[in-house]
Amino acid sequence: MFETLQPAPPDKILSLMGLYRDDPRPHKIDLGVGVYRDVEGRTPIMAAVREAERRLHDLETTKSYLGPGGDPGYCDAIAQLVFADQAPRARLRSAQTPGGAGALRILCGLIARARPAATVWVPVPTWVNHLAILADAGLPVRTHRYLDAAGHGVAFDAMMAELQGVAAGDIVLLHGCCHNPGGASLDRGQWDAVADLLERRDAIPFVDLAYQGFGLGLDDDAYAVRLFARRLPEMVVAVSSSKNFGIYRERTGAAFVLAAGAPSADAAHSHLLVAARNSYSMPPDHGAALVRIVWNDAALRAQWLAELEAMRTHVVGVRRALAEAFAAAAGSRRYDFIARHHGMFSLLGTRPEQVRRLRDEHAVYLVEDGRINLAGLRPDQIGAFVDAVLAVTR
Ligand code: LMR
Repeated sequence: MFETLQPAPPDKILSLMGLYRDDPRPHKIDLGVGVYRDVEGRTPIMAAVREAERRLHDLETTKSYLGPGGDPGYCDAIAQLVFADQAPRARLRSAQTPGGAGALRILCGLIARARPAATVWVPVPTWVNHLAILADAGLPVRTHRYLDAAGHGVAFDAMMAELQGVAAGDIVLLHGCCHNPGGASLDRGQWDAVADLLERRDAIPFVDLAYQGFGLGLDDDAYAVRLFARRLPEMVVAVSSSKNFGIYRERTGAAFVLAAGAPSADAAHSHLLVAARNSYSMPPDHGAALVRIVWNDAALRAQWLAELEAMRTHVVGVRRALAEAFAAAAGSRRYDFIARHHGMFSLLGTRPEQVRRLRDEHAVYLVEDGRINLAGLRPDQIGAFVDAVLAVTR
């Protein structure tokens, strides 16, 4: 039967990992997949996570199943991290998932069960896998503008004008912080206006929160999700622990459902667990156990907070240094937007053929749409990177 298949097109982000790995040029630069790297270009295991791993090794007594909802201690920890005391717990339900993508997928499964004809509004641009996951779940999608013509700032008026088309019961997918791939974020007043619109339209936010702690800080990055939890009757949230705990390959995330009342929250939760059971059955435990241990130990939590803040400030420093390096080399401030953005990503504004030249002629790897992962740029690579970009864009 497989002779009927043509090879699937390569994933635009993940395919870069193999291409980069196989490139023998020693000066190669990897700004592809969204993974944090330190000044030496390593993705370290955080010390707090390492210590939690030691404790888990000594204290774990069984590997028996936990069930489709995963570890309730992990879910409680993430509920506190994301919502603090701003979500009505009686109406909030959760499930541990295989990463943020697993959360997105089972939440789409839940939406498809609750309201199969609901339109999901998606910003343009968005994380490429959003569109793939929504299509896989069979949900109808409509898009709205997010970035201005240059791709460097939020086109807020255009976005709000297009969202006037949202109908009652529609779902609106929003990046809770650190937009991927854009890097340009809404400010608090703009989030308030989005909440007003969702409330007026009786629409449901679907928040993807994958980079909490990498933008302005843990609490600031949760502004939108906490605002919606206070103000709106219903919401779904996909959370990733990959980035802020640095446990990418452990596949750890959480799905949250806020419902209008406790009975509908219970019903929605039961369907969320069925969506998990029908797909991967139960999430892997290891990463969630590490997060739970870190969160519930005051000293480990403090250590983790300090490590995360150091990662955040490192990326902010790379952004500033890169903007300055561009200004010095190009003699213009047109790359200053990089210093204004938040999180790991910005769009350089390059065309796909320029991205190919960067790879072929300069061993610089970025996503075809021009997305760069600032967290992947070592300080000693900034000069070479700036020269390469200016060489292909002049
Ligand atoms: C990214 O956007 O690079 C990350 O979220 C990794 C991924 O799965 O695409």
